[in-house]
Amino acid sequence: MNRPARFLLTASAAALCACAAPKTGKSYDLDFSKQKSTSQSIEANGQTVKFRAFEGIVYVARPTDTRYETINIYIPEAYYNGGSINGYTAETAPVFFPNKIGGYMPAEPGKPALEGKRGDPNGPKSPNAALLALSKGYVVASPGARGRTTADGKAPAAIVDLKAAVRYLKANDKVMAGNAQKIISNGTSAGGALSALLGASGSSRDYEGRLKALGAAEADDSIFAVSAYCPITDLEHADMAYEWQFNGVNDYKKMNITMLDYNVKRELVPGTLTDAEKNLSDRLKPLYPAYLNSLKLKDAQGRALTLDSDGNGSFKRHIESLLVQSAQRRLDEGKDLGKPDWLTVKNGKAASADFRKYARAAGRQKTPPAFDGVDLSTGENQLFGSATDDKRHFTAFSARSSTFRNARSADAETVNLMNPLHYIGRSDVKIPQNWRIRAGTDDRDTSLAVSAVLAAKLQNNGYTVDYALPWGVGHGGDYDLDELFDWMKKISG
Ligand code: DHB
Repeated sequence: MNRPARFLLTASAAALCACAAPKTGKSYDLDFSKQKSTSQSIEANGQTVKFRAFEGIVYVARPTDTRYETINIYIPEAYYNGGSINGYTAETAPVFFPNKIGGYMPAEPGKPALEGKRGDPNGPKSPNAALLALSKGYVVASPGARGRTTADGKAPAAIVDLKAAVRYLKANDKVMAGNAQKIISNGTSAGGALSALLGASGSSRDYEGRLKALGAAEADDSIFAVSAYCPITDLEHADMAYEWQFNGVNDYKKMNITMLDYNVKRELVPGTLTDAEKNLSDRLKPLYPAYLNSLKLKDAQGRALTLDSDGNGSFKRHIESLLVQSAQRRLDEGKDLGKPDWLTVKNGKAASADFRKYARAAGRQKTPPAFDGVDLSTGENQLFGSATDDKRHFTAFSARSSTFRNARSADAETVNLMNPLHYIGRSDVKIPQNWRIRAGTDDRDTSLAVSAVLAAKLQNNGYTVDYALPWGVGHGGDYDLDELFDWMKKISG
């Protein structure tokens, strides 16, 4: 192969971690230059996208799961001929890092492909984010990660895996096309939460022991930028946030997430809250203001974002203003808003929103507590399980109210390791400057407060956050790829 000089294996790359052989089992070589590729091409938007595919690379020396602790790496063919795409070269191309994690389940690495939309997989096909990224000159590195359904995939396994995959890319920067100092992470829902956590906890020592145990490459694991769609994050406060939003909304359509043949499957099951569930909601809702106020957040104008004991106040008005901005953007696109009863439009302009009415119209999707089920029935209970207890609590509230005999709780350290809010503002982490966060106005999988708090905390700590609530968009991601790639280009130069 005709390699540019930059791809030649250097002494430091050769010293990668095939060194520390495990006591048992196979040791994987972390030197990318030894990997074999296949040449592939896919027709996308009338263009032939040519690339080399390096698939199924195990990214740690001592994996516990070789199905998921793998990464697929795709490099535009032009970079093997000294070419440039979209202003990028083999030297400068940022690395797009999309994870396919959903429901905190195990996830295999993604592939560039023409795909139907989520919810309509057999509908019209268009290039997925990975394929579009290649067509725009990005190197694509899609990591797999362990997930909650396996004994070794419990929290914090998935974030440890993503960090190990980042370290693999950074350790191999000299022998691989693309600039590993410019890793842009992307993910949706649980994958969005992990994308945000990967950014927020960059270079943290907290994960070191776990990374060492896996034989992760010796490198820094900070990244360049974060894209997160509807992050299901801040899990230990998401129950109270959900009831702050949905208390009084007693009918629900509950999402049942299962895994069929390793594909995440989602089904809506309708119901009405029982008296016991209403009681849980009434007890959770008043816990949120104290938590929100403890964060001491400010809006873009420096005004304090707070809530009174009834859950009213400037933070609620802040979310209402985000909803108004969403409606206005829709109007500016010349599109119809329908006639939502929670929105006031005056003289063709979105004027005000009523959060209570909005919540009623959006509709409840989860029964209280939405994440830490008192009966240990949620995916998050399984996420915070252990090798010996498949499901555990992770909030004091649900542990106290547990209906499960002898239920155990995850330790505080594990819970912290999964929460990006725990890292933002700390001086011992390297957090990317640029963030893009999206949560649709029709998304009911977590409270809008969760992404609003993440965005505000980042902004308050000096990071640049492109945060918006796309109008009429439900739980999902990658629906605005043109805008996503415009943002990536803008921040990457
Ligand atoms: C996802 C959705 C949820 O409602 C949740 O609690 C966790 C994950 C998801 O789609 O990834």
